[in-house]
Amino acid sequence: MSWTRRPVEGLPVYDIDYDFLLLAELLDRLRDRLRIAVLFSGDPNQPGAVIHKTHNPRPWKSYEPVAIDIAKALQENGFQHVHLMAEDMRLISNLEKHRIDIVWLNTGGVQGYDPMCQAPALLEMLGLPYIGHNPLNSATLDNKRIFKHELLALGVPTPPFLCWNASRGILNPRRLKRPAYVFEEYEGPFVVKPVSGRASLHVHVVDSIDDLPRAVSEVYQQTRYHVLIERYLSGPEFCIAVAGPVSSSKGRLIKREKPFAFSPVERVFETGERIFTSMDQKPITQQRARLLSGEAPVTETLVALSQQIYLDLNLKTLVRVDCRTDASGNVFVLECNPKPDLKKPEGGITSLVTLGLGDHQMTYNDLILSLLADRLDHFLTHRKQNIRHIVQLLS
Ligand SMILES: Nc1ncnc2c1ncn2[C@@H]1O[C@H](COP(=O)(O)OP(=O)(O)O)[C@@H](O)[C@H]1O
Ligand SMILES: [Mg+2]
Repeated sequence: MSWTRRPVEGLPVYDIDYDFLLLAELLDRLRDRLRIAVLFSGDPNQPGAVIHKTHNPRPWKSYEPVAIDIAKALQENGFQHVHLMAEDMRLISNLEKHRIDIVWLNTGGVQGYDPMCQAPALLEMLGLPYIGHNPLNSATLDNKRIFKHELLALGVPTPPFLCWNASRGILNPRRLKRPAYVFEEYEGPFVVKPVSGRASLHVHVVDSIDDLPRAVSEVYQQTRYHVLIERYLSGPEFCIAVAGPVSSSKGRLIKREKPFAFSPVERVFETGERIFTSMDQKPITQQRARLLSGEAPVTETLVALSQQIYLDLNLKTLVRVDCRTDASGNVFVLECNPKPDLKKPEGGITSLVTLGLGDHQMTYNDLILSLLADRLDHFLTHRKQNIRHIVQLLS
């Protein structure tokens, strides 16, 4: 390892000639130095959280239990300074008080429009690095309308759709030209859902085109945001996780040439179920999700699609891509979750992302270390100027 001392802005700072082979040793140095904050969503109803409570089009969730799982895993990986924090008005002073070096974004935001991108935007302004997506990618991934426009531009299959905002009046699909253009002769069934939703909340199956206005109004009443209308796909449903190329298994770091696609899963429907029920209502168990083998014909498609999305959207940390097939077995991307559930599996309840870790000889703690290591590798390779305070810690 070569160290050079050179002046930056008049201050003597350490610089490092980084190479991936050094990463394990650098992580070792950081274990008792790096101060990490794990964020969960602040509650806008708590006194002192916000100045004025407003509306949140995305169904609010605290995510605190999962933030605790992540914080524990970081500690079990040897990191000694891990702090849990709510994303709310007090965040800046808490980050300062605890002299935080890097932030883990396990938050869905507090309130307001595009809540997922607010924490990364704030951290960009403060100059703090984070494990999470940049503001633009956070907003893009959490907004199915914008994300689907990206998919169309990239040539990635996604169900035909249109968007309606009831502030334009009541949708009249028989009088507007656009529905006929998008859906051609197709008259249903459709899926009506929020553009910024989660866990299948406010997702409706609408059998007839004439019932669309009522369903669209209902979702609009709940969310006060654009409503997405999609062609209903009746085939099996799949998802896959994809993260950056660095991962850790059995104490060893590896760096792949491509993004790391893992946990390809089929979501198992119950008889008569037309859409996958919210995990808020039915937890994810082995009965609800079946891990696919590497040889399953659909696995290759899922891996290729997820890696393409990761690279073409220039993603920098974990997402979970949700897909469904049509009656002929063609795979379509429904959405890409910017903050997939990272619950630690226990007591038969698991998360879709962690289901396939065993196939890569990885534990939950390995996954958490991998996500941190991958992010540091990216910063040290491409954005060292953004983490000078962390480089200093390595000296
Ligand atoms: N176009 C569609 N065709 C068939 N099922 C759909 C469609 N869109 C959504 N669903 C069902 O609704 C569920 C939730 O939709 P999704 O787009 O993944 O949003 P979210 O998970 O953010 O609520 C999916 O898991 C799937 O079961
Ligand atoms: Mg989904």
